[in-house]
Amino acid sequence: MDALESRRSLKAASFTESVIRDYTRLSDLHGAINLGQGFPDFPAPEEVKEAARRAIAEDHNQYPVTWGVPAFREAIATQYGRVYGMDVDPDTDVCVTCGSTEAMIAAMLGLLDPGDEVVVFEPYYENYGPDAILSGAVPRLVTLRPPDWTFDEGELRAAFNDRTRAIIVNSPNNPTGKVFSRDELSAIAELCVRFDAFAITDEIYEFITYDDVRHIPIATIPGMEDRTVTISALSKTYSVTGWRVGWAVAAPALMDGIRPVHDFLTVAAAAPLQIAGIAALALPGDYYVTQRAEYDERRTTMMRILDETGFVARPPAGAYYVMADISHLGYVDDVAAATSLVEGIGVATVPGSSFFADPANGKQLLRFAFCKKLETLEAAGERLRSLV
Ligand SMILES: Cc1ncc(COP(=O)(O)O)c(C=O)c1O
Repeated sequence: MDALESRRSLKAASFTESVIRDYTRLSDLHGAINLGQGFPDFPAPEEVKEAARRAIAEDHNQYPVTWGVPAFREAIATQYGRVYGMDVDPDTDVCVTCGSTEAMIAAMLGLLDPGDEVVVFEPYYENYGPDAILSGAVPRLVTLRPPDWTFDEGELRAAFNDRTRAIIVNSPNNPTGKVFSRDELSAIAELCVRFDAFAITDEIYEFITYDDVRHIPIATIPGMEDRTVTISALSKTYSVTGWRVGWAVAAPALMDGIRPVHDFLTVAAAAPLQIAGIAALALPGDYYVTQRAEYDERRTTMMRILDETGFVARPPAGAYYVMADISHLGYVDDVAAATSLVEGIGVATVPGSSFFADPANGKQLLRFAFCKKLETLEAAGERLRSLV
């Protein structure tokens, strides 16, 4: 095709392509080990894959109800009741989406008007920036500060005002590994109630926490039940990031904005994979215990490798990423470091700057994803050792 001048809209021109997915392309190009993008390189549970094959063979191959296969919505509601004691009505409070990615943009488009302010903790998962632009909302950033990535309550209070419509909470957090405590969630809840705002909460790593840390959904904090959009997905918990099945759970007053936007964005998530989702959510409690133990081993391995190769990092409390400080390694910045690692020694990471509105704030950080087989992590470790 002829090289024409770009015809993109002002909206599309105001954000760049995903840096995370860009590093996966670079990783493939250089035959690198991909510790950049957060997808597992180990298999999904056999029963869940079998359920997907069966669903296709049994011809669950047509459009499902736009907001989700009823039995899958039922399974989602049951899981929220069983695990967190939440009262979720599968008929009115659930919308199944194409991954939590679609749930987030559908919630923002369906609930925010241009000019509304949305409070976002920084560093943040890179999608929230473009999501805010697409929905016309104005992000108000509140900084999470190392070493434990907590926020200053005064700073959070100052970010709320009469224009504040929502706050995005991502716990367990990507990229920092922070898991918000009950006190922190209560401080957020108090401001939401005081300013009549709601929380949109990305809980996609809800089952991946370490030591004695447990995830608390902000919807369970008093006052938040009817002012929270709880988002999660099959992607991370069942190692099926390519299936693109997630959901939003919210009271009808909020669902009223989300469901119609979802309907016209994508119509529905893949029908047979929603059916397989019923099998995933029916996995026994042992599945989650084993998964936690395996992630713990991967975290230990990743931390040892980083320590041996001169990166400075603290173990995350949840999710499967480590933010490592590279200040003393002599790179000009994080992009130079990530480029040198992927091209030079064949290890893909993600530059820390992609998680900050002002890239300068992340220029001494690299994010490592450790949702990989131990042998993959060790192979990456071998390559990283050549740096030392
Ligand atoms: C915080 C967070 N939210 C959402 C996603 C994407 O989720 P999904 O695959 O369900 O769209 C990711 C993927 O890395 C993530 O880290």
